[in-house]
Amino acid sequence: MNLETKYLGLDLKHPIIAGASPLPDDLDKVRALEDGGIAAITMYSLFEEQITQNSIGAEAHVGSYENSFAEAASYFPDVDLLERGVDNYLDQLVKVKAAVAVPVIGSLNGTREGEWVNYASLIESAGADALELNLYFLPTDMDESAAQLEDRCIRIVESVKARITVPLAVKLSPFFTALPHFAKRLAAAGADSLVCFNRFYQPDIDTEELDIRPMLDLSHSHELRMRLRWLAYLSGRIDAKLAVSGGVHTGIDAVKSLMAGADVVQIVSCLLINGPEQVKEMLDELQGWMQEKEYTSLDELRGCMNFLRCPDPDALERANYMRVLKSWRS
Ligand SMILES: Cc1cc2nc3c(=O)[nH]c(=O)nc-3n(C[C@H](O)[C@H](O)[C@H](O)COP(=O)(O)O)c2cc1C
Repeated sequence: MNLETKYLGLDLKHPIIAGASPLPDDLDKVRALEDGGIAAITMYSLFEEQITQNSIGAEAHVGSYENSFAEAASYFPDVDLLERGVDNYLDQLVKVKAAVAVPVIGSLNGTREGEWVNYASLIESAGADALELNLYFLPTDMDESAAQLEDRCIRIVESVKARITVPLAVKLSPFFTALPHFAKRLAAAGADSLVCFNRFYQPDIDTEELDIRPMLDLSHSHELRMRLRWLAYLSGRIDAKLAVSGGVHTGIDAVKSLMAGADVVQIVSCLLINGPEQVKEMLDELQGWMQEKEYTSLDELRGCMNFLRCPDPDALERANYMRVLKSWRS
């Protein structure tokens, strides 16, 4: 069955791609992903904080020597060394690109306006076939309004877009006051795809150590439902491709995502739990389901349950809230 998929200008053999994760840090794992049949690989992120820390570090060191004797110049720390975190990222990207034939998507992660966006073009020069910009943040500033925050994100997207020629995906959070409107603005600002959504890692309180404990729990399939709803609202209504991230673990999860309107599904937790063999299992399940239901192409399937095309759009909206509450029987 033909599962070929177009995403971010790339011709993929099917719609299952590896989302941003630590896997590309190890070239054996990268090759195993390709051998397992993955259609594309997303790098882990290069973070704004890594970039700005390196620049601040370099300036601080150089500044602290600038009034010294001329001979002291040889004491200047090697700026390359200070920037090794960033260079490591770019080096690893070059190596990943050389190791596999499937497309590789770079990932840049930041939330404030600044010089870090220049790294978008360095990621492209290092060989990324496309770039994913992750706007991962928690709005905790009491003085920044929703409109200001959205404007800031849009300016970041515009400045990243201006620095690259490869297609741009924007990975966002679901927690926007008016998500469909914001999604439309992101597309107009240059996002060729939206990745729905970031998954927030909720820290816990350690009652013994009286401290905050960071928690990294992997996802479960039930987390997909919130994403399905938003994909269904956005599909066919904005000028951008859609990727789903968060809660895709099985071929049936992929079927649901495609029906809701996803162009591709990103997987991370299920790869970390089950290894790259999971890709073939998901593809078998997806194709088996399509054969049973007599779908011959992904185009027939994609978006068939979105807001515009599903038989009961009310089920996606407020009316369903009442129905669900009334359906409870003890
Ligand atoms: C260990 C780990 C590292 C991750 N690193 C990144 C990252 O560097 N950049 C990013 O955008 N997302 C990162 N993510 C988030 C994933 O790309 C993905 O959005 C999230 O895990 C939800 O997808 P899943 O349900 O398939 O795991 C990471 C996730 C995990 C579990």
